[in-house]
Amino acid sequence: MATTINLDEHLLIGGSWIDATGGARFDVTDPATGNKVGSMPNGTEADVQAAIDAAAAALPGWRATPAIQRARILRKAADLMRERADEIATAMTSEQGKALAEAKGEVEYAASFFEWFAGEAERIYGEIAPPMNTNNRVLVLRQPVGVVAAITPWNFPAAMMTRKLGPAMAAGCTSVVKPASATPLTAALVLRCIEDAGAPAGVVNLVTSRDAGMVAKTIFSDARVRKISFTGSTEIGKDLIRASADQVKRLSLELGGHAPYIIFDDADLDEAVEGLIASKYRNAGQTCVCANRAFVQRGVYDAFRDKLKAKVEVMKVGHGLAEGTVIGPLIDSRAVDKADEHVQDAIAKGATLVTGGQRLTEGEFAKGAFYAPTILDGVTREMDIFYEETFGPVAGLTVFDTEDEVIELANDSIYGLASYFHTKDYARLMRVAERLEYGIVGANAGIISAANAPFGGVKQSGYGREGGSVGIDEYLDVKYVLMGAVGTV
Ligand code: SIN
Repeated sequence: MATTINLDEHLLIGGSWIDATGGARFDVTDPATGNKVGSMPNGTEADVQAAIDAAAAALPGWRATPAIQRARILRKAADLMRERADEIATAMTSEQGKALAEAKGEVEYAASFFEWFAGEAERIYGEIAPPMNTNNRVLVLRQPVGVVAAITPWNFPAAMMTRKLGPAMAAGCTSVVKPASATPLTAALVLRCIEDAGAPAGVVNLVTSRDAGMVAKTIFSDARVRKISFTGSTEIGKDLIRASADQVKRLSLELGGHAPYIIFDDADLDEAVEGLIASKYRNAGQTCVCANRAFVQRGVYDAFRDKLKAKVEVMKVGHGLAEGTVIGPLIDSRAVDKADEHVQDAIAKGATLVTGGQRLTEGEFAKGAFYAPTILDGVTREMDIFYEETFGPVAGLTVFDTEDEVIELANDSIYGLASYFHTKDYARLMRVAERLEYGIVGANAGIISAANAPFGGVKQSGYGREGGSVGIDEYLDVKYVLMGAVGTV
């Protein structure tokens, strides 16, 4: 097995890699073993303030930098991430747990946001509206919102950051990044790529701290921070909405999900099994777009369950750096508790365990946060797993008979991020895609994330879109200039 890292990183403020005021640090640990893999400065309010000062000072120069030059820096940062992919992926697996192959995939995915938004930087067009009055002309400008705070999660420590920093930098904004305290080392390595690509001092700043509440409070009370982009839980998202009211700050919120995964009886079953596995067990089930409820039409229910069982039973669970690992540890023991609570609750209310259903605690698993990949048969609305996000490797199967019935079941959620279905019927494909109340629909596809697609949810999954051609709009203000006394041509 490759060895985990041992890395002591720093805050990045105004182009300098520094310790926290007062010098305190916190340990970063490997969720597979509990061992220390590095440490980060425990940033204070003064550090957050200094990072905002640095971002504000860098703003006039960066917004005035020609778009083509901003784009060049983003492309170079993407190249550097690829060159350093082994180092970044090893750090990611060490602190987050995901299998190394997935971590390398994430580095590529993360780099693709820099590349995509480099292109978008070069196409921030304005408009000239047709005149309504002979003497007037209306000009529409799109300008950077200003200083941005990016609050990023532990499940995709590189990609969720570049999905925010890419468009922010492309638009001409400067940023303060606060990564999850479980996974700050990956964040530091990615920021080093941006810096080494030539981003001027203060364009991106990194603050790590165990006190997320203090960081948020400092950010929300500083009028120079004009926008906050957050990926995380719906609960915290609601707190941020409340906090944003005082200064009417712009927000982008990518919050919880509870994706339905529908298999109609005309689906290609093997493709559907692969799709569900990719969606459900990626990152050990710790994604906001994970399938959390699988609805299978009665005619193919047994066949689908058996095929899925055959594949899930042979998934290798282990340390993410060990050869052949498919499922790594969960992020911590609370995540294991939640997965197990959902499984035990479902069984107590009548679901049948097809495979898995237990914590792994012996031998190599003894010190880690491991849960066996699990399938539950016969999930109903009475069970917690039907309405709550599990964030673990647990698939619950529910049988259905008609299209109307499954649409009602699928839309019965407070969340509206991702949804999926498999069918070979083209008319049904269009119909179902239109009726699912979700921001993202995977039709015959279990992996839906890509830099060129607008990622985001409806209902309590948040608002704003990341990626795609609209992703940059989140970092731009629209201004209109009325030009009077122009006269006639
Ligand atoms: C997420 O879990 O929030 C992001 C997943 C992705 O980008 O694919």
